Amino acid sequence: LGIAGAGALAACSGTKGAGSAPTFGPPSPVRTTAGQRVTTARLVAKATTLDLGGPQVATWAYGDKAPGPLIRATAGDLVRITIDNQLPADTSIHWHGIALRNAADGVPGMTQDPIKPGTSYTYEFVAPDPGTYFYHPHVGVQLDRGLYAPLVIDDPREPGAYDHEYLVVLDDWVDGTGRTPDDVLQQLITKGGSATGGGMGGMSGMDHGSMGTGSGPTGTSPFGDSGDVTYPHFLINGRVPTAPDVLRAKPGQKVRLRVINAASDTIFTVALGGHRMTVTHSDGFPVQPTETGAFYIGMGERYDATVTLGDGAFPLVAAPFGKQGQAMALIRTGTGSAPPATVRPAELRGPVLLGTSLVATDAARLEKKSADSTAAVQLTGQMAPYAWGINGAKFGDNDPIVLTEGNRVRLDLTNMTMMTHPFHIHGHTFGVIGSGLRKDTVLLPPMASIPVELQADNVGNWAAHCHNIYHAEAGMMVELKYQ
Ligand code: C2O
Ligand code: CU
Repeated sequence: LGIAGAGALAACSGTKGAGSAPTFGPPSPVRTTAGQRVTTARLVAKATTLDLGGPQVATWAYGDKAPGPLIRATAGDLVRITIDNQLPADTSIHWHGIALRNAADGVPGMTQDPIKPGTSYTYEFVAPDPGTYFYHPHVGVQLDRGLYAPLVIDDPREPGAYDHEYLVVLDDWVDGTGRTPDDVLQQLITKGGSATGGGMGGMSGMDHGSMGTGSGPTGTSPFGDSGDVTYPHFLINGRVPTAPDVLRAKPGQKVRLRVINAASDTIFTVALGGHRMTVTHSDGFPVQPTETGAFYIGMGERYDATVTLGDGAFPLVAAPFGKQGQAMALIRTGTGSAPPATVRPAELRGPVLLGTSLVATDAARLEKKSADSTAAVQLTGQMAPYAWGINGAKFGDNDPIVLTEGNRVRLDLTNMTMMTHPFHIHGHTFGVIGSGLRKDTVLLPPMASIPVELQADNVGNWAAHCHNIYHAEAGMMVELKYQ
């Protein structure tokens, strides 16, 4: 099939060592409870050609588009989704951020068998918490091929106090440019250092100087090195800035933005030209409403913000941290001419909100409790030679973090490297100690330490990893295991 490389990578993802992968069989069915609504969807994953708004790319996608189809349910629903794997490789789906039952978590080798080409698989789970989420494979770097899509869990008690909702999915795009994400990963592993993603050259990983995103609250870059790979395109909702996705609304209307960063190794700064936004949710959970002109969003994170629109055509820009180019969409309420694809809203140069400065609402906080145990989670490794791990060893060689059901567990997350990493935990959300901020993915700047706590209330075997997917695949992953 000509995909030997991809197959080899898929085979090592999520499994520990050679030859000893457990098998799982089909997942047990979930019975509906009285009055429970069932939300169903059917997805097809297959090779396809996408139009990014000019550039045509041969890649893999759900439902022939990237982002794939929105799945929407209400908290408490039984969600039942069948995936047809028409890809030339094994796959799976992970429901990123949802505290669901372990059997539906989508990690081959840890929670299920891989879904073989030509077969289908049904996921069934209950989504307990409302919010903005997304879904993607948990095999190799398939996410980076365009296999990602938004997932919204509505709150039955909170009808939206806004006129429009706008799902804004950010991506950095390598695939279809003569090189797949698997090729890029191979290049990183064999050569070390940073890799180019196709059309454009450059060594983005070494590029400290051109911080196109403006500066953080302190006037200096908060993130150190900017990434492993140079990307030919940055996308909002699968479109390049010269042919942007457009939201039409009326002046004075209120929009809820649900921003999802599906990029493989790009932190973005998001701003809507001429507007201030109010950030209301982080990774699905409410925060004390915080006004800003711009905010950072790391890989795997989601932020919701509301904004009241002026009269005109406004660029919604996501500027890639430390890299050239940008992603852009348009919000149009008037007839004025559209801004050029290279427009840089002034808001990008003002103070930029860093997610970890947000504070949880009282309702979003974990119940106050002292820790029963503490574990160190150190992100380790470097670009050259290319090696990433947790607690000094790559996934499979490092020890699982053992949880006891019912315990409050403190995790001391520490980044021992010179690059920022977004750390993501499956099956649980954690509270940042102090602010109470509830998250499932948090950006850890170089040498930074962020203590978090989680309630060990979801028995199973769970992945926890850097959401820069190249890093997770290179080994920056660990298992959380209930004893
Ligand atoms: Cu979206 Cu294991 O990650
Ligand atoms: Cu990383």
